[in-house]
Amino acid sequence: MKIFLDTADLSEIRRAADAGLIDGITTNPSLLASGAGDREPAELFREIAEIVDGPVSAEVVATETPTMVEEGKRLAALHDNIVVKVPLTEAGLRACRQLRDTGIRVNVTLCFSAVQALLAAKAGATFISPFVGRLDDVGQDGIELVAEIREIYDEYGIETEILAASLRHPKHVLQSALIGADCATLPPKVLYQLLKHPLTDVGLERFLADWETLGRDL
Ligand code: G3P
Repeated sequence: MKIFLDTADLSEIRRAADAGLIDGITTNPSLLASGAGDREPAELFREIAEIVDGPVSAEVVATETPTMVEEGKRLAALHDNIVVKVPLTEAGLRACRQLRDTGIRVNVTLCFSAVQALLAAKAGATFISPFVGRLDDVGQDGIELVAEIREIYDEYGIETEILAASLRHPKHVLQSALIGADCATLPPKVLYQLLKHPLTDVGLERFLADWETLGRDL
């Protein structure tokens, strides 16, 4: 399963990319609002795409197809790594098809049902982004949605990649991986939670203490 970082914060992106922990980046307008600082969005997307060797999702903000397509083309022209993100609306799926027909990869976002995911695949989406945590927030089972999409895509040999999004904790990541999501996008906090285990810390402490008693250099 590919791991993407869900952020527009350049220092977080540099840290995770330098550590070799991520395969790509996803952003959305809210993440831009909190993480772009003084930078122009286009400049920020280009910079992210230079740092990360993989897909970088950049979202349109128009709501009508022609303007979505126009924004999408401008975003895609910034860098080969850019994937255009469009919302799962009728206008968004029309834009998805038009962008796909010009060779631009599209991530269809704000997916909350498996039949929406089916329509996105038929519109030529490269990625579909089911929002797991936001479904959990309203008392539904977000992981179940990922499982349903997996089943449908496998049944019909659909190649659209399932990008599990809105993941709030390591268990969401584990469940996404077990179900066979193609990618998971995580906020930085969750990415570093994946690394941690108390027995790793205790074990390392003990190894180092025992080494000290040996009194030798390696
Ligand atoms: O990038 C989309 C998604 O991951 C947003 O997550 O936590 O705002 O529901 P969240």
